[in-house]
Amino acid sequence: MVIENESGVFEREPIAELERRVKTLGFLGAGVAHDIRAPLSVAIQYLPVLSKLITKHGNEALRSEALPMVIAMNDALRCVAIITEGLQNVLHDDSRVSNIGEVLDTSIGLVADLIRGRAQIAKRVDRNAHVRADPAHLIQIFTKLLQNAAQAIPIGADESNEISVDAWIEDGYVCVSIHDTGVGVPPALRAKIFEPRFTTKSRTGGSEHAGMGLYIARELAEALNGVVSLDDDEASGTTFQVILPAWT
Ligand SMILES: Nc1ncnc2c1ncn2[C@@H]1O[C@H](COP(=O)(O)OP(=O)(O)OP(=O)(O)O)[C@@H](O)[C@H]1O
Ligand SMILES: [Mg+2]
Repeated sequence: MVIENESGVFEREPIAELERRVKTLGFLGAGVAHDIRAPLSVAIQYLPVLSKLITKHGNEALRSEALPMVIAMNDALRCVAIITEGLQNVLHDDSRVSNIGEVLDTSIGLVADLIRGRAQIAKRVDRNAHVRADPAHLIQIFTKLLQNAAQAIPIGADESNEISVDAWIEDGYVCVSIHDTGVGVPPALRAKIFEPRFTTKSRTGGSEHAGMGLYIARELAEALNGVVSLDDDEASGTTFQVILPAWT
């Protein structure tokens, strides 16, 4: 940053000072994000319910005039939620070491309601796999991939569908693959799905899809010097891989 000194001369701000200011701003932002989260989640929880009620019981005027407003409010608040989530990431303690098996157990548990009735879960995890990262940081990555896997499978066909989660250590890296037997990603969309705000999911009826899940998962993995990628050779269903430096 260029600043004006006492003699009115413009000069570069010392890097250490700049870093300190950025860090302070980061912590301030994370604190505000934390405080906003609770009231925001109330609105995000109720707006889709409100839009369903209007769709079901509202008269013509409510459906044509109030419903689009409710959907727009829900979309806007989802964006605020994504921004606050990003700010909160500053608070990750990435000096911690996480056991990938435990992180995957927690992530699957958090998405269990969504998976129920859609798929069986198959898990093959090397319990020795560890990564230097805050478990909260890793859980954010895996829950986003697991949510997508579940959403790719229709409800009611859980006998014939599977979400498989594999984790192993290879050449100094922890590799996690999340495969689902769902609709798959059409070849024409493969280059687009990691773009922010790209979604193929319906936004009607107050649906909460902002098209940010994969973008955030990739950003979070890259912050840990890792990658998230889509397996291109998939004949049916979809496989995502997360590769992170192993902690030994
Ligand atoms: N497992 C999957 N199977 C099929 N398509 C997928 C899968 N994962 C992602 N996609 C495709 O990639 C798009 C982008 O995914 P992303 O997670 O970024 O956004 P979203 O799920 O649409 O919305 P959000 O995650 O913000 O709720 C999806 O809309 C879908 O088309
Ligand atoms: Mg998603």
